[in-house]
Amino acid sequence: MRHDQIREGRLTGERNTLIARYLSSMEADRRIASPDLRVDMAHLVMLNRQGLIAKEHAQKIATALHRMYTEGIPDEAFDERFEDIHAGIEGELIAKAGIDSGGRLHLARSRNDEVATCLRIRVREDILEILTSVATLREVLIRRADEHTGTVMPGFTHLQHAQPTTLAHHLLAYEEAFSRSAERLLETFARVNRSPLGSAAFASTGFPIDREMTCRLLGFNSILGNSMDAVSGRDFALEMLSTLTILMADASRLCEELILWSSAFVEFVELDDIYCSTSSIMPQKKNPDCAEIMRGHAGTVAGAFQSALVCMKGLPMSYNRDLQTLTPHLWNGISHTAASMEILAGMMDTAVFNVERMYRESDRGFSTATELADTLVREFGLPFRTAHNIVGRAVRSKEITLTVIERAGKEISGISLQEMGLTEDRIRDALDPGLVVAAKKVAGGPAEEVICDAIRIRSGILKDHNETMQMQRRALQDAEDELVSMIRGLIEA
Ligand code: ARG
Repeated sequence: MRHDQIREGRLTGERNTLIARYLSSMEADRRIASPDLRVDMAHLVMLNRQGLIAKEHAQKIATALHRMYTEGIPDEAFDERFEDIHAGIEGELIAKAGIDSGGRLHLARSRNDEVATCLRIRVREDILEILTSVATLREVLIRRADEHTGTVMPGFTHLQHAQPTTLAHHLLAYEEAFSRSAERLLETFARVNRSPLGSAAFASTGFPIDREMTCRLLGFNSILGNSMDAVSGRDFALEMLSTLTILMADASRLCEELILWSSAFVEFVELDDIYCSTSSIMPQKKNPDCAEIMRGHAGTVAGAFQSALVCMKGLPMSYNRDLQTLTPHLWNGISHTAASMEILAGMMDTAVFNVERMYRESDRGFSTATELADTLVREFGLPFRTAHNIVGRAVRSKEITLTVIERAGKEISGISLQEMGLTEDRIRDALDPGLVVAAKKVAGGPAEEVICDAIRIRSGILKDHNETMQMQRRALQDAEDELVSMIRGLIEA
């Protein structure tokens, strides 16, 4: 084990493993090891530029950091007896570059601003990764919708057959919800992408550092204005988790439908075998396990958000070690969401929809009755409420024929619809699910031409989001390239 370079001045006594592990954030810090190295590099370049670290020392530090950057951070840096990865990497640096050089890097900073910076760097990358999977999912939903613009199916309210719609309309409903989550992620990105570095413990530093420079080198948009807020604020993590919670809630709704639709009661869909499991005792079983696990993990992510929120709510300014316990919740929320989005995209891509079955169910339970009432309004000028009551009364007799409607018209308002011109044919048309759907031409509705427009619009929005994402990714990569080349410059100087 490398030597714990932080404790030896102020504290005595060797910690036992129980205490060391209890305090260490090493496991969660694996996800910020690479960001931490970049933070070290940016800080070094800036210290050197500001004349706060001499060239010979900067060169030694740069060499050690660059080696870790290209060859990977050695296992020793991840020893759980270090309190965190910042101490681990500093230990490694001092071991390689010597205390006289390596011991100079932690000037004008603290692990408090260091960790806050690392978390933001990692979350930035995670946002782009999740956005990519969400984009794939949306692309799949749009494509599948395009295949099913004419697939008539029942729509439900209260889980009762309500009115016919199309599968395209149903799939695009989810796409639109996921698109709003993508918007939220892009907005979250902008707020995450601000640099706390240079805030040190919380009160900044008396050394003339250049925060704008490290900000730029690390690809951040701007610096956080208040150093106290910068080290102790985790609202970016809460925002991320709340955004993921909403995203997963929508994924969970879709999973719930896949589970329901693949049951023998409904039989609207057959999921690909790879997303299903069987039973260890019942040989006939095919269970939609991926969808179930995902529905469960929507709860895990919501729980992670809740845990993080509760961690924050009682903390006084500024840094408190409790903040370390928030980090694993953040990673938990992120990793479950990332995996879920990829799986959901695949599951939707390979799902086989049973279009005959959907059509057969589409007028079940008099679900076209609204259109018949609308017809009475349109053709005979009845008030909608009167038409609604006439059709409702007809439904009581379990069949809708001209005779039944005629009787209902007389009972409800003493009129003869037959004398007004209602025919058996007109009733049949009004009750035809395909015609009912075709009549729904209002923006946002299921009629084929409207849905085709929607598909074009949705694809355009998706393309815009992808372009924004690409731009952000390129900006981060450019910043990293510049940083590494400056480090090389220090080595070669
Ligand atoms: N591991 C710590 C965290 O995750 C880093 C900051 C430690 N700061 C301190 N004052 N002990 O928050």
